[in-house]
Amino acid sequence: MKKILFTETVLRDANQSLIATRMPFADFEPMLSEMDKAGYYSLECWGGATFDSCLRFLQEDPWERLRRIRAVVKNTKLQMLLRGQNLLGYKHYPDDVVRAFVRKSVENGIDIVRIFDALNDLRNIQVAVDETKKAGGHAQGAIVYTLSPIHNLQTYVGLAKQLEAMEVDSICIKDMAGIMSPQEAYDLITAIKEAGIATPIVLHTHATTGLGSMTYLKAVEAGANCIDTAISSMSGGTSQPPTETLDYALRQMGYESGLDTKRLKKINDMFKTIRDGFVETGDLTPMILSTETDALNYQIPGGMLSNLISQLKQQNALGRLDEVLAETPRVRKDLGYPPLVTPLSQMVGVQAATNVLLGQRYKTIGKEIQSYIRGEYGTPPGVIDAELAHKVLGDEQPITSRFADTLKPGMEEAMANVAQWSDTQEDALSYAMFPPVAEKFFIARAERAVNTVTYSIRKA
Ligand code: CO
Repeated sequence: MKKILFTETVLRDANQSLIATRMPFADFEPMLSEMDKAGYYSLECWGGATFDSCLRFLQEDPWERLRRIRAVVKNTKLQMLLRGQNLLGYKHYPDDVVRAFVRKSVENGIDIVRIFDALNDLRNIQVAVDETKKAGGHAQGAIVYTLSPIHNLQTYVGLAKQLEAMEVDSICIKDMAGIMSPQEAYDLITAIKEAGIATPIVLHTHATTGLGSMTYLKAVEAGANCIDTAISSMSGGTSQPPTETLDYALRQMGYESGLDTKRLKKINDMFKTIRDGFVETGDLTPMILSTETDALNYQIPGGMLSNLISQLKQQNALGRLDEVLAETPRVRKDLGYPPLVTPLSQMVGVQAATNVLLGQRYKTIGKEIQSYIRGEYGTPPGVIDAELAHKVLGDEQPITSRFADTLKPGMEEAMANVAQWSDTQEDALSYAMFPPVAEKFFIARAERAVNTVTYSIRKA
C-alpha cells in the first residue's frame, strides 16, 4: 500500500491565510501533544508571517515559540517556510545572515525548511539550501506555481531538474493561490516523474477556488508523495483543503496515511473553539471561508486577499475591492508576470491599491517595486513594461548578478545593533528582519522582566 504523507498547516498557513497569523501560542499549546501523536509527517508551524506577527501583534518571542513547540512535539517533524535570501523579511539579506538564521532555526527545533524564491530565481535559495543541509536539516526546495502567458510545463520541469541538481531532500510545488487544476497537477507531476526526477514531490495548494481537494487526488494519482492540509475547522476558503476529508478519500482509494482518525477528531474539536473565537472578534471574516472562483482570473493568493481586505478596510475603501482586484493582474503584467507570493504579492497588491485609490497609475511607485525593477529581487520571469522601467531606472540598466553578492556581511552589525538588549544571535536576527518592531518588542520584554522581578520581591 502506498503511503501518502500529510503536512498539517493549521499552525502556520491556515493561521496566516484565515486570521492574518493572529493565533497566540497559548491558544494552540493544549493541542500540541495530541498533534504530535496524530501521525502527521510534519507540522508546518513556523516561518512565513508567524515570525513578524509574534513580534508585532502577539508580544511573543518567535524563537521562544519554536522552542516551546519543540519541547512538546518530540516525534513529528517541525517544518517552516523560508523565503530564500529574503528570510522572513521583505528584502535580501547578506549570506552570513541567511546562514546564521537557518542554523539557528534548526538549532531551535526546525527539521524541514521549505525554501522558495518569489521569482523562482534559484540563485536566491542556494545558500539557504546549503546551510540547511550543513545544519543537519531537511532542505525542501520549492517551486512557486503560477499561470501566465510565459509560464508552462517546461518551465516547471526545468526548475525541478535544477532543484534535484542542487540535492534538495524534497521538492515542493507551491500553489499559493489555489489555482492549480486537477489536470494541471496530474500533467505536471507526471512530467516531473517522467523526466526521471526521483526526489520526493510535495504539493501545496489552497482551497480558495474550490479546486484544492480534487487537485490533491489527481496529484497523488500522478505520484505525489506528500500533501499539505489543514484540520477541517481551520480548512477551506483561503486555507488548505481539509485533513480528515483527504485522509478519508485517500484511504478508500487504497492509500495509507498513518493518520489516527480519533486523534484528528479531538484536534478538530479543539480548533473549532478557537476558530469560533476569531469569528466573534472579527479577525476571521466568514467571507474568506467560502469558495472564490474569481481567484481563477485574478490569481490572488489567500493571504494576499485577506491583507487587501484589511488594508482597504483601514482606509475605508473596502467598496473598491473589485477595482483593486482588476488592477492587480495589470500591475503584474507590467512587472513581467512575477508569481503573486510574498513579498511580491504584498508589493503588487499595495501598488494596485495605490493606483486605484490615487486615481492614476504609478503616480507613486512603491520603494520595493522600484528595487524589483532595478533587479534587486532577482531576474523577473518576463519583460518589465518599458515605460514603467524607464520611470524607475532612467538610463541605467538593472543588475543581473545575484543581489546578495553586492551586500557586505551583516551579522556583526546585527549583533552590535541589539547589544543594549541582548547578546543572542536569535535576537540579532529578529532585529535584522524587523528593526523597529523588534526594538519595541525588546523594550516591552525588558519591562515585563522588571515587573516580574519587582512582583517576586514584593511577594517575598
Ligand atoms: Co500557502
